Amino acid sequence: MIKVAPSILSADYVNLQKDIEKVDQAGAEYLHIDVMDGTFVPNISYGPGFVKAIRPITKMTLDVHLMVEHPEHLLPLFIDAGADVIGVQVEATQHIHRALQIIKNGGAKAEVVINPGTPVAMIEPVLHMVDQVLVMTVNPGFGGQKFLPETVDKIAQLNAIKQKKGYDFDIEVDGGVNDKTVIDCYKAGATVAVAGSFVFDAADPAAQVKALKNATK
Ligand code: DX5
Ligand code: ZN
Repeated sequence: MIKVAPSILSADYVNLQKDIEKVDQAGAEYLHIDVMDGTFVPNISYGPGFVKAIRPITKMTLDVHLMVEHPEHLLPLFIDAGADVIGVQVEATQHIHRALQIIKNGGAKAEVVINPGTPVAMIEPVLHMVDQVLVMTVNPGFGGQKFLPETVDKIAQLNAIKQKKGYDFDIEVDGGVNDKTVIDCYKAGATVAVAGSFVFDAADPAAQVKALKNATK
């Protein structure tokens, strides 16, 4: 059964606490928080103050996905805000190794993220040091996009490396995930599914979390 990470990018911002409680009670393990800077991706969302405000209202793992240029400068702020997992896009920094070290030294879990156009080979040198790898299954920037099936092979490649080398990182998928697309991801080795519009655009977000779990039993 896959772990579920509802993305609050698609939640109701004026009733955010209610939406968070719904997915928490439904058994979602993570809460996925998308940070966008308007430069790395063509959209802007929220910053460390937002994570700090959410921290006291849930015990779910706060899974912060940084879609920002120069992420190194922001890492201490997100660590202080209470992020549990911090993901850095490999495309956004010339120093991915250093960025992951900063996260780990700060006491959070370190995640490396790859876009649909980025090969697994780009992150092989840091796989020994990560707690989680995020395979983007859409181009980042917006919720509600269509799942890109060509990304599934990269999940399988990562899972093969994981088994061969005895690593224990989680493999997360993000973008266009629903109760159909999650099946191939899970079979290929994904262990965490981010879902925004599938969960929060529905009348009953709790049922959607359960549907993702039931599809991967
Ligand atoms: C996209 C974000 C996603 C987004 C997913 O850039 O990284 O986390 O919220 O939304 P859905 O599940 O609607 O594709
Ligand atoms: Zn995301």
